[in-house]
Amino acid sequence: MGDNMLENTKVMLETAKKEGYAVPHFNINNLEWTRFILEECEKEKSPVILGVSEGAKKYMIGFHTVTEMVKAMIKELNITVPVALHLDHGSSILACKEAIDAGFTSVMIDASKFSLEENIAMTKEVVQYAHERNVTVEAEIGHVGGEEDGIASELAYAKVEDAVLLANSTGIDTLAPALGSVHGIYKGEPKLDFDRMLKIKELTNLPLVLHGGSGIPDELIEKGVNCGICKLNINTDLQIVWAKAVRTYLNENETVYDPRKIIKAGEKTLKEKVSEKIHLLKSNNRI
Ligand code: 13P
Repeated sequence: MGDNMLENTKVMLETAKKEGYAVPHFNINNLEWTRFILEECEKEKSPVILGVSEGAKKYMIGFHTVTEMVKAMIKELNITVPVALHLDHGSSILACKEAIDAGFTSVMIDASKFSLEENIAMTKEVVQYAHERNVTVEAEIGHVGGEEDGIASELAYAKVEDAVLLANSTGIDTLAPALGSVHGIYKGEPKLDFDRMLKIKELTNLPLVLHGGSGIPDELIEKGVNCGICKLNINTDLQIVWAKAVRTYLNENETVYDPRKIIKAGEKTLKEKVSEKIHLLKSNNRI
């Protein structure tokens, strides 16, 4: 790895698209999570996209703190796999520019709650700023809901013609069409629209991103990868296994108070989940 330890997502996702697999995007929350994820991806020899939401950035102080932490960690842990540092769900042009200026190599502008025209205009401005600085851009079309929804409403699904228009008029590098997934825990089984996914993939020729990657049955993820998903965003699944292990550890060790031991209690299970996702996304055994 050269001087700049972080990559944008261009090569990693174009390669994934060509070879038919998906790169995992794991959200990071703190130093320990970043370390666990990087170590496991290095062990599995998997490229990785570290996702930072605006909430997580605030929790970890700011974009600069996150960038410097990740870069220093790559160096001191001797990480050799490609790593991209990505703003997840950037809510404004300003947030995207701040992340880029602080050294993020990839940003998502999520203007999906605005009209198509506004979404296109905002995305276009971010693309111009980002591409001048060798940073890749992801945009959302349709609207991926949250835990409050539990299941996606039909109205939230991306329209094929809107996806094509957004892609063609902005020059984005990756597209996240809402196709039935939600963030957080599902109420029932998600209804992913694979026909639409395939159409959007064929008409835009872009690597597609699936948000809300936790809690989707493996066979649906595999089918998604076959229909053009090149990046899967995963957050809740890691949080659930980590929290469960820490809860058990605290219950079984009532006298422990060292925070290092407490946070580390979730390391093994978090790493196992990371490895499981990497294998799933690379699986040849697809339907
Ligand atoms: P989950 O928390 O459902 O895995 O979603 C993560 C995500 O899509 C981040 O953008």
